Amino acid sequence: MTASDIVYEGNALDHFLYRDGHLFAEDVPVAEIAAAVGTPFYVYSTATLTRHFTLFDEALEGMPHLVCFAMKSLSNQAVLKTLAAAGAGMDVVSGGEYFRAKAAGVAGDKIVFSGVGKSADEMRMALTGGIRQFNVESEPEMEMLSAVAVELGVTAPITIRVNPDVDAKTHAKIATGKSENKFGIPISRARAVYKMAAALPNLKIVGIDVHIGSQLTDLAPFEAAYLKVADLVETLRTDGHEIVRLDLGGGLGIPYTRSNAVPPLPVDYGKMIKRTLGHLGCEIEIEPGRLISGNAGLMVSKVIYVKEGEDRQFLIIDGAMNDLIRPAMYDAHHDIVPVVEPAVGHEPAKYDIVGPVCESGDTFAKGRDLPQLAAGDLVAFRSAGAYGAVMSSEYNSRPLIPEVLVNGDQFAVIRARPTYEEMIARDTMPEWL
Ligand code: LLP
Repeated sequence: MTASDIVYEGNALDHFLYRDGHLFAEDVPVAEIAAAVGTPFYVYSTATLTRHFTLFDEALEGMPHLVCFAMKSLSNQAVLKTLAAAGAGMDVVSGGEYFRAKAAGVAGDKIVFSGVGKSADEMRMALTGGIRQFNVESEPEMEMLSAVAVELGVTAPITIRVNPDVDAKTHAKIATGKSENKFGIPISRARAVYKMAAALPNLKIVGIDVHIGSQLTDLAPFEAAYLKVADLVETLRTDGHEIVRLDLGGGLGIPYTRSNAVPPLPVDYGKMIKRTLGHLGCEIEIEPGRLISGNAGLMVSKVIYVKEGEDRQFLIIDGAMNDLIRPAMYDAHHDIVPVVEPAVGHEPAKYDIVGPVCESGDTFAKGRDLPQLAAGDLVAFRSAGAYGAVMSSEYNSRPLIPEVLVNGDQFAVIRARPTYEEMIARDTMPEWL
């Protein structure tokens, strides 16, 4: 087994493989799902979700730990339940995500609450329903949390998210660990802020939190940040604080193309964590999202038209930027593959792959090599499980697309496509109309 076999769903351990010329999701033909639910849709693999969770869980073996799935990457209830059953905790960033986690049966003491702008209502909700810890990101937030905890007569367990001023070397929109980013408190002010936390009523300091960005393809920035955290643990302990838990965030990247160098594996990430922080005797939490969900999902779409441009061919498909916004928003690359495997010696073609939305930004790929396709053919976007469905919208009044979960030879719709009636039902008329 090579490194890429382990995390990239494209090789030996793949759960989205061609069999007899047809793309399968585990043991279900993708075309069969398309016939049942219509296109476009998302499909997720149970086996991949649980395997990726387990890779992290095993990587931290030997240290007390909890892997909290960053459910912002994929928050369908059935997915949460699948991961919770495997032993995952959840990293939530809003009242809505907290509600989803609890509704999926996750115990409060396995939920960590992250985010720069938690409201008093969200704090109340988590303190009432149970919470493992709040990752606090500013002094005013800390004061608010203390006040809410006093009001409820409870104690709020906290870590403080420090900003280590490390360059994550990832896309600017998803880097969070530089001092210019809005996240965390500058590590240089950490001692003062911990002192303030210790003096506020109804807060209990349990540890330190750090998260430097997403889609990191190198361990070096993580290691630089974690070394700073290790120093900070010693300093804060000298100051008399009890630091028993380290939340190290998420961010380990995935290979979006087969030609890319393979990012570090969870096992190597785990070894680095042991090396940099293992001697401190802390419980370790991590918050991976993309590496668990990314390659566990496809977005499947159908060709509507093949259109001849002046110097190019457009493949107009029924999926659009509102369904998968990553290419438009981050210039992200997704491998796009035909659902019917190209025959050996097939006629190759080059396409600009675009959706029906009325913006030039609704372009998934330019000059992409594919076999010749025709109207009605199905294509699948790989690595679409993370930040796909959760970032979709009904722009152009295109109803949210369905989500399907596969488990072996079974599949189930886990979010149905709304009808047009359902789509507009949340609009209400003022009485003067
Ligand atoms: N923990 C915190 C505090 C985070 O802010 C994030 C992601 C994670 C964990 C999970 O990171 P992951 O393991 O998934 O890299 N929409 C963007 C990604 C935004 C990431 C935001 N924070 C994309 O489509 O690439």
